[in-house]
Amino acid sequence: MNPDLARLHPYPFEKLAELKAGITPTTTAKHIALSIGEPQHAPPAVAMTAMAESLGGLARYPLTRGERSLRQAIADWLTRRFSLTAGQVDPDRHVLPVAGTREALFSFAQAVIAKPTDPTAPRPLVLMPNPFYQIYEGAALLAGAEPYYYPTDATNDFLPDFSAIPAEIWARAQLIYVCSPGNPSGAVIDRARYQTLLTLADRHDVLIAADECYSEIYDDRAVPPAGLLEIAHELGRNDFSRIVVFHSLSKRSNLPGLRSGFVAGDATVLEQYLRYRTYQGCALSLPVQMTSIAAWNDEHHVQENRRHYREKFDAVLDILSPVLPARRPNAGFYLWTDVGGDEREFCRALFAEQNITALPGRYLSRAVDGVDPGAGFVRMALVAELADCVDAAQRIRAFLS
Ligand SMILES: Cc1ncc(COP(=O)(O)O)c(C=O)c1O
Repeated sequence: MNPDLARLHPYPFEKLAELKAGITPTTTAKHIALSIGEPQHAPPAVAMTAMAESLGGLARYPLTRGERSLRQAIADWLTRRFSLTAGQVDPDRHVLPVAGTREALFSFAQAVIAKPTDPTAPRPLVLMPNPFYQIYEGAALLAGAEPYYYPTDATNDFLPDFSAIPAEIWARAQLIYVCSPGNPSGAVIDRARYQTLLTLADRHDVLIAADECYSEIYDDRAVPPAGLLEIAHELGRNDFSRIVVFHSLSKRSNLPGLRSGFVAGDATVLEQYLRYRTYQGCALSLPVQMTSIAAWNDEHHVQENRRHYREKFDAVLDILSPVLPARRPNAGFYLWTDVGGDEREFCRALFAEQNITALPGRYLSRAVDGVDPGAGFVRMALVAELADCVDAAQRIRAFLS
């Protein structure tokens, strides 16, 4: 077997199952899961109709690079959403559909990491935020690289300080994952930080994989989160060199089961990544592609989605603010809050007493030099319907009171 498989960490939900094992909640109140970030709002009707009307496409092998109509719809969406210049995103060179960002975030590292020819040389580094979406780490390990965790914690408003990453780390790095809006904090990387990142990535010849899969879930009274292509464009980097962004319909359009997203950016990198993907074999079936076109072309359902999340944050924060320092995230659908103690104990007791599952922060992070940025924090996904989120918040408040 590949020895690197043994380096993979258990997934957060395996640890959670262990934490809850053997506990029978003392309440008869129904179980509410705040642990998994699986959207529960209804998928858009336009997408369901497109799926029903395109089922005949199952009779054909799909192309790995996807139908041009899908790539065009994605290029148009990117142009509208991130105020790019018409024609700047070339659907033939800058866009590739992927079967959800999870597989793409993983396979991207497999395609781009160059292993040292000298077996005694140190492994290349893949930089990633801490806490983080665990796929980044698994992707680095199975690509034969070493993860380097840069902190995104409360001392820095959950934002990365790219200039604090030592030069010798940058020198060994080949790839950096960034996540904005962040999972779990919802923090949005600002222009100044992205500019620093681009300067450092250029200096050290490092590729940037920007996971933007929460970019459409934001408070619609505020400015939409900026994307890295948008910032590159503002800086005059119209070839998107060294940048690949990852987007998904899972959160934006409540279609996690569709497995549809895209990567966009550096044409030279994507050409090679397409080559890799041809062998990997993750082409999207034609009905999935047609459904995706309908979803990317419609913003009405996304606005509705944002409205639902805003209502949930309003209601839940009203209930929880007197007992927890919970605050509204810049974007995304998670409450990431300090619980003032051992968060694993908090989650265990919350389940035992209130039949509510939340995710301990430490299951999303790694301790570096004895400091674990997830310790003391809990992630709660407001994905359930409003009434369930309110019920959960009231039970958490009762639990804490
Ligand atoms: C930060 C982040 N990136 C990527 C994904 C993967 O989403 P999908 O594969 O559904 O596009 C998730 C899913 O929860 C996530 O939280």
